[in-house]
Amino acid sequence: MFEYCNLWFEFDNLRLRKGFYICGMSNTFTIGGDLTVHRMGYGAMRITGDGIWGPPKDHDQAIRVLQRAAELGVDFIDTADSYGPKVSESLIAEALYPYSEGLVIATKGGLTRPGPSQWHQDGSAKHLREALEGSLDRLKVDQIDLYQLHRIDAKVPFEETMSFLQDAQENGFIRHVGLSEVSVAEIQAAEKYVKIVSVQNKYSVDYRHWEAELKYTAAHGIAFIPWYPLNAGNVEAIHVLKEVAKELEASPNQVALAWLYHHSPNILLIPGTSKVAHLEENLGAVHLKLNANQLERLNALSAVKK
Ligand SMILES: NC(=O)c1ccc[n+]([C@@H]2O[C@H](COP(=O)([O-])OP(=O)(O)OC[C@H]3O[C@@H](n4cnc5c(N)ncnc54)[C@H](OP(=O)(O)O)[C@@H]3O)[C@@H](O)[C@H]2O)c1
Repeated sequence: MFEYCNLWFEFDNLRLRKGFYICGMSNTFTIGGDLTVHRMGYGAMRITGDGIWGPPKDHDQAIRVLQRAAELGVDFIDTADSYGPKVSESLIAEALYPYSEGLVIATKGGLTRPGPSQWHQDGSAKHLREALEGSLDRLKVDQIDLYQLHRIDAKVPFEETMSFLQDAQENGFIRHVGLSEVSVAEIQAAEKYVKIVSVQNKYSVDYRHWEAELKYTAAHGIAFIPWYPLNAGNVEAIHVLKEVAKELEASPNQVALAWLYHHSPNILLIPGTSKVAHLEENLGAVHLKLNANQLERLNALSAVKK
């Protein structure tokens, strides 16, 4: 069911469980014209406590997940200052610093966390300055590879938020700028200040609200990074996914990721997990081949749920 890998990959075939093999890695996408990463990355939000608050229940497993991801060739990790808060970024540095060449860490600013499961927007220059300084410090870098505005804050003039990002980029603290949960009109408005190289919007096989944004980013060479690519773990229960998974001797989560991977070449995947076994399973998804009939049934899901 999985193809044998291209020979240029440096690690051996990995047996996951009977009949499941990861062979090599995903193909690549170049972010902002100079950061080439494999399209199957890792989202580091789940290595925190419940409600994305505080330290993880199992610190050692969180470290192992990050190190295993790097070992298996993941070179794109998504995080945010607000995951924990501060916990996810600190664990990334603890597990992976000094970073191997080519590892791209994308973080975000623009949300504050008064408590578990609470997320408040703050796009003021004052907050973003503190957030960016904190991220640079915790990640132990002089420049953030990709800094994503977590949310546009309607309470703050757009000019203030975007001018801060523009200055931070001009001063070398940010290499590239991305946005999260934005419309085409918002991307175009932001592009008056800085080049936008990535858009991170909620999107999965069963949630296609941002189809126009996916098309816009694909047409403009912008990375599209779906958050909740597994719909927060809820795709497992979808009947069609279970059917296709059975046909391919795979798991429904792998089918959901494979559908995204084949849906558009500018999609970068960042499935989140706190477990090594799930990480390994998810990475294997890029080698699933979906036939025309399977694609048709999965595509039809969009008619069911937007
Ligand atoms: N920009 C934004 O506003 C925003 C919002 C949310 C998330 N994000 C980013 O997007 C990334 C992905 O989103 P997400 O982590 O929230 O959701 P997700 O990737 O859709 O799903 C993660 C959930 O699925 C479970 N899971 C993962 N792999 C599994 C497997 N193979 N088998 C069974 N369960 C599995 C995880 O539990 P286990 O831990 O038990 O594996 C976790 O509960 C985040 O890590 C974060 O970097 C961004």
